[in-house]
Amino acid sequence: MLILASAAEVTVVSKEARRAGKRVGFVPTMGALHQGHLSLVRTARAQADVVITSVFVNPLQFGPTEDFSKYPRDAEKDSAMLAAEKCDYLFLPSVEEMYPPGATTWVNVEGLSEKLDGHSRPGHFRGVTTVVAKLFNIVQPDFAFFGQKDAAQVAIINKMVHDLNFDVRIVVCPIMREADGLAMSSRNAYLNPDQRKQALVLYRSLMRVQTLADRGESSSARLKVAGAQVMAEEAAVKLDYFEIVNRDTLEPVADISGGALVAVAAYVGSTRLIDNILVTGKGNAAEPR
Ligand code: PAF
Repeated sequence: MLILASAAEVTVVSKEARRAGKRVGFVPTMGALHQGHLSLVRTARAQADVVITSVFVNPLQFGPTEDFSKYPRDAEKDSAMLAAEKCDYLFLPSVEEMYPPGATTWVNVEGLSEKLDGHSRPGHFRGVTTVVAKLFNIVQPDFAFFGQKDAAQVAIINKMVHDLNFDVRIVVCPIMREADGLAMSSRNAYLNPDQRKQALVLYRSLMRVQTLADRGESSSARLKVAGAQVMAEEAAVKLDYFEIVNRDTLEPVADISGGALVAVAAYVGSTRLIDNILVTGKGNAAEPR
């Protein structure tokens, strides 16, 4: 695996690959890689001829009181993990490479960027779409791979790709979970053993909604109450939101008959965690108690 720090070099590598008839797959990350990221790299490996992964902790998507400076960074470990997955290129730019002095252009998906995490983290998604647009222009991939765990990010990037005619196919990969259900996240590293146990309440709340939906409950209001009740069982965890929305528009839906995204965000100590499920709203037969 070759490590490249220069955007221009990455563009050359990608252009040459595509000129040779190869398909380029791109996995954008902020590093601190875990199995969730590696599942994206594996999917990219299976679908593309050349795999480029970026590791860049993007300052634009962190608020002034957020964890930009303490966000876990371990480029050596990340690059060893990527090499083991047969990633071809690691793009490891500096902040100056991505944002040369004087850059003033932003990409913002209006109407979506303020929803869910965008509501609690003003400016976050504007930072995400700005860096992802830049990365797409630098890497010029045929496919780009994102995790379903960041469901709002997926909706917003899909909209950006559509609105701005990016010539890239977005591939969304399933959430990877620990054996006990906790969604994998680089921020799980912040949790102490007690908080690690408390964090499971997010998954439990989603499973409660899943169970009720499987039994035929389709009212979002009732499902939200049920999910929030489970969240309240863990007093040390502070709920940010528990929402049931359309997976593309992120608008609340009154009932889940047409399918919906059930998304939760909460603070475990000072660590903000998110998780979600997609419910089909098919209303399976009630399970015996
Ligand atoms: O999902 C992430 O890790 C980041 O938001 C992304 C897409 C790499 C942009 O910085």
